[in-house]
Amino acid sequence: MACNIRMVSLPCVRKVIPACLEPVTLNTNLNFRSTSFTKKPNSHVVQEKTPTPGKFGIFGGKFVPETLISPLEKLEAEFNSILEDHEFKAELAAALRDYVGRETPLYHAHNLTDHYKNINGEGPEIYLKREDLGHGGSYKMSNVIAQALLAKRMGQKSVITATSAGNHGVAAAAVCAKYSLDCTIFIGTRDMQRNPSSVQRMKLLGAQVKAVDGNFQAAVSESTRSWIENLETGYYLAGTAVGPHPIPTMVREFYSVIGKETRKQAMEKWGGVPDVLVACVGTGCNALGLFHEFIGDESVRMIGIEGGGVGSNTRDLHSASLVRGEVGVYHGAMCYLLQDGDGQIIRTESVASGLEFPGVSPELSFLKDSGRLECYTVTDQEALDGYKRLCHFEGIIPALEASHAFAYLEKLCPTLPHGAKVVVNCSGTGYNDVLQSSK
Ligand SMILES: Cc1ncc(COP(=O)(O)O)c(C=O)c1O
Repeated sequence: MACNIRMVSLPCVRKVIPACLEPVTLNTNLNFRSTSFTKKPNSHVVQEKTPTPGKFGIFGGKFVPETLISPLEKLEAEFNSILEDHEFKAELAAALRDYVGRETPLYHAHNLTDHYKNINGEGPEIYLKREDLGHGGSYKMSNVIAQALLAKRMGQKSVITATSAGNHGVAAAAVCAKYSLDCTIFIGTRDMQRNPSSVQRMKLLGAQVKAVDGNFQAAVSESTRSWIENLETGYYLAGTAVGPHPIPTMVREFYSVIGKETRKQAMEKWGGVPDVLVACVGTGCNALGLFHEFIGDESVRMIGIEGGGVGSNTRDLHSASLVRGEVGVYHGAMCYLLQDGDGQIIRTESVASGLEFPGVSPELSFLKDSGRLECYTVTDQEALDGYKRLCHFEGIIPALEASHAFAYLEKLCPTLPHGAKVVVNCSGTGYNDVLQSSK
């Protein structure tokens, strides 16, 4: 099969999910209140009293070979134990504050707000969650540092991971240097060419960088295979909320600090919750990190923006797994997936390498189906315009991934009532993207 995961024998199954076979999974650890959707859930989304860990309705699960079941169960047990461990939580909180630089600001973008005012001087208020200001220049460090602490606690000496835009790789390399862990990072050759300075930084920080023919999905496949060969000593440091349980739940939990801070900061700034949250969606981590805290707040709209690529109507020139994908199994979990009629993975395309992934978070897949998540695409050109707009109006260079979320403001803002509070996740800095954006 064309699905790259064949290398690690994980099944890649094409769609066809009978309605109502699987119950909705509510994450037991967090405030996932599925009864409060703003829209009526689709008919195949049902509720169950006893949730199944790792399942989000029909999505998620653990579609892996036998060899991975035991390591994943071990990981799940460790993850569950740290959620109640005060010592771990205190160590993580200190690292997030002093090493990562949390909390990141919630910045009122005055000029952008003015730009979107109508002729009567009315329009929404735009705020940016400044994840670009975190150590490493993106939202990635918060998850990486938590998992590095987990790896140490599990007695692991080495870390294996995969990166796309390089932000996760740089974060992993930095944290491994800090905690004296060996670090091996797989990256696609296409992404290496697009992000040469990230590769240099990973190496400078002491990581072994391994090139894989292709892009992020190939790097993930290769890193998983390497992990299977080193199950005893290697910790697989997932940077994305995709893959078999418990990875999507764990990664989302570590990123959800973004939304928790946003709630607190919104309360301090305007005494309420945001009206609209907007984030780009590659695999869905930064979006879930912002959204998760607000899932139960009926009034808060959650909007995910995917890479529309060149904006063609053909299926193979974008990265819009949620908008244009179909349900299938990929990299060990059920999710929306870009695939052809035979279940073969379709090549993804985006100006932002971090958005190029054929699958997407199972939890976001569920939120889409339930009607809680709105998802749209913007084209490469619209994203590049959004990138320049933020530079010109606010003096902030956003990552090309985040620029997709900024680009969508053009469509969103004219539809919003005066004074609506919009929070856009500025998921990373675009310093690496300057050359790419000027092409
Ligand atoms: C800065 C930045 N934002 C967004 C993304 C998109 O990924 P996700 O949807 O998992 O947040 C990436 C991926 O590498 C990224 O580096």
